[in-house]
Amino acid sequence: MKIVSIVGARPQFIKCAPVSREIRKNHSEILVHTGQHYDTEMSDVFFEELMIPHPDYHLGVGSGSHGKQTGDILMRVEEILLAEKPELVIVYGDTNTTLGGALAAAKLNIPVAHVEAGLRSFDRTMPEEINRVLTDHISNILFCPTENAVRILEKEGIVSGVHLVGDVMVDALEFNKEIAEERSLILERLCLTPGQYLVLTVHRPANTDSRQNMDSILRAVAMAGLPVVFPVHPRTKKCLQEYGMWDRLPENIQAIEPLGYLDMLKVMRHAAKILTDSGGMQKEAYLLGVPCITLRENTEWVETVKEGWNVLVGANFDKILNTIMCFNPDKKSNNIFGRFAAKKIVNILDI
Ligand code: UD1
Repeated sequence: MKIVSIVGARPQFIKCAPVSREIRKNHSEILVHTGQHYDTEMSDVFFEELMIPHPDYHLGVGSGSHGKQTGDILMRVEEILLAEKPELVIVYGDTNTTLGGALAAAKLNIPVAHVEAGLRSFDRTMPEEINRVLTDHISNILFCPTENAVRILEKEGIVSGVHLVGDVMVDALEFNKEIAEERSLILERLCLTPGQYLVLTVHRPANTDSRQNMDSILRAVAMAGLPVVFPVHPRTKKCLQEYGMWDRLPENIQAIEPLGYLDMLKVMRHAAKILTDSGGMQKEAYLLGVPCITLRENTEWVETVKEGWNVLVGANFDKILNTIMCFNPDKKSNNIFGRFAAKKIVNILDI
């Protein structure tokens, strides 16, 4: 089968790595990078570390408003699909790249497979929620990471082409965990003692675009009594500079450039706790057995909360500080995201 896979943002590089490896055993894959993320440390480093094949097309779409970015992706992907005539298009996750790519294919009547289907935060103010809902409703094959995702699709009337396969991020993590342990020197580089520091990431507009939210988060973290590693997304840096907070970050916070996958895995694995508004990191924290404090009011990864390893605190100063001090889950972390999702996905495509 001739398959076009479309990626463009950081989490999609991680998700496509294990699937691409499996696809290429039996099928011909054409990899399209939309260029939604373009900085070296937001893109190139992931291709190198995760050994993702060089993209066949790089669209260089870059940043822009949601309409412009999604529209550019739609137009540019359409051209490629018309030229390549694939039998299937695969999209990942919930970014503007996901929606733009899926829409281009659906309009050309090319079957779409969505990896990470059925996720919902039930918060339509999140751009990702719009991308999730629309992509699922125009996809022909829906690969769900969890049973909950399958149930959500059923409630929305989507029952055919739905497959519970588990989460491909587990494959990526399992493949790279020990490699990261051996190769990454991040703890030494940042002078960190295992178990004696926190990791913080913030990039959602709901936080970055609110001066008040950023202020609450940083003030709470300042009182943690532990060093805090803060890999900063370019959007977040821009906002903090605008608010005049960038040059006077609390002393215990080490603000650094965004990290590659291997450094990030290692720094997360040995953290005392992780504070984040990322979706992927909530799962990775769970898989690594590190307590996660989620700086959002909702999550599409409800299983991590139900299992007792994740707490939703929004940007509330008291709640953040309280959970940093008191949230110490001691339950066993179960395998709720499955294993070998990439293999299962390609087995289904083979039929
Ligand atoms: C996107 C996804 C989000 C995902 C995140 C992972 C959407 C709607 N959002 O958010 O779901 O969690 O990726 O990181 O698709 N920028 C750079 N260099 C880059 C990339 C971005 O400077 O390489 C800056 C630009 O100022 C840009 C801003 O970051 O405007 C936001 O980038 P964008 O790709 O629009 O969204 P993310 O916030 O990264």
